[in-house]
Amino acid sequence: MSIDFLAWFDALERRHLETLKFSEVRRAVQALSSLYVERREQADIDSAFSGAGKRAAFAMYFAPLHFLLVREIVQALDARLPQNTTIMDLGCGTGVAGAAWAVYSDPHSNVVGIDRNLWALQECKWNYKQFGLRGTVRNADVDAVRIPSATAVIAAFTVNELRAGSRERLFTELIRTARSGAPVLVVEPIARRVASWWDEWMNEWRRIGGRVDEWRFRVELPERLALMDRAAGLDHREITGRSLWLPAIA
Ligand SMILES: C[S@@+](CC[C@H](N)C(=O)[O-])C[C@H]1O[C@@H](n2cnc3c(N)ncnc32)[C@H](O)[C@@H]1O
Repeated sequence: MSIDFLAWFDALERRHLETLKFSEVRRAVQALSSLYVERREQADIDSAFSGAGKRAAFAMYFAPLHFLLVREIVQALDARLPQNTTIMDLGCGTGVAGAAWAVYSDPHSNVVGIDRNLWALQECKWNYKQFGLRGTVRNADVDAVRIPSATAVIAAFTVNELRAGSRERLFTELIRTARSGAPVLVVEPIARRVASWWDEWMNEWRRIGGRVDEWRFRVELPERLALMDRAAGLDHREITGRSLWLPAIA
């Protein structure tokens, strides 16, 4: 079964509002939003999925926004993949970044979601199924992942969560992937606070022929997502982000 974004969002909302009230999720959206905006200590990052409210907020509010952002970015980059490519989604959370790329590029792609959080992986499986994707999930630390050759990689809202050593290791792994002939896409929010690693990655990315962008997209949110947005005092009629895009390096 394959469904479009709006039908998926409806199903997602039904799934999470079965056990929680709209107002409970709204409060959790506000809590997570300030957690993401203020500088986050490792303990904050680790607590992002603690509690039913925060999980629902992530799954039915932040994840659809991430889906839309990645969808717009891959369209703008025309990041189409060769047929039957596998996409590896590092720090996949509920799987929406890899799913958005796959749906745009080739709905028959294999998607492999990697995350260390078991709840997120369950949601990820459900989402892949909703989109009709051939998706599998792996419970692993990004640190322990070796990217197979000819595997496209996406890491959305993940790199900033890694410890410095893991980030450095991942950087080397991503460059190796591009050199082996597969594209790499990194997506992050436009930093409210300075993330020093970004500047280093950006410079190196440009040096080896990659593309660095900041994005602003006007999007029409599904009515109920817009309602949650307003109720939480947020405004995502325009969604923003930045990306590092490295097509396969010859
Ligand atoms: C902000 S969420 C983003 C999720 C998803 N990529 C998205 O765009 O919605 C960051 C994800 O990275 C995962 N993560 C953070 N550090 C990780 C690590 N070292 N290994 C595996 N997963 C990690 C978290 O569990 C979480 O699911």
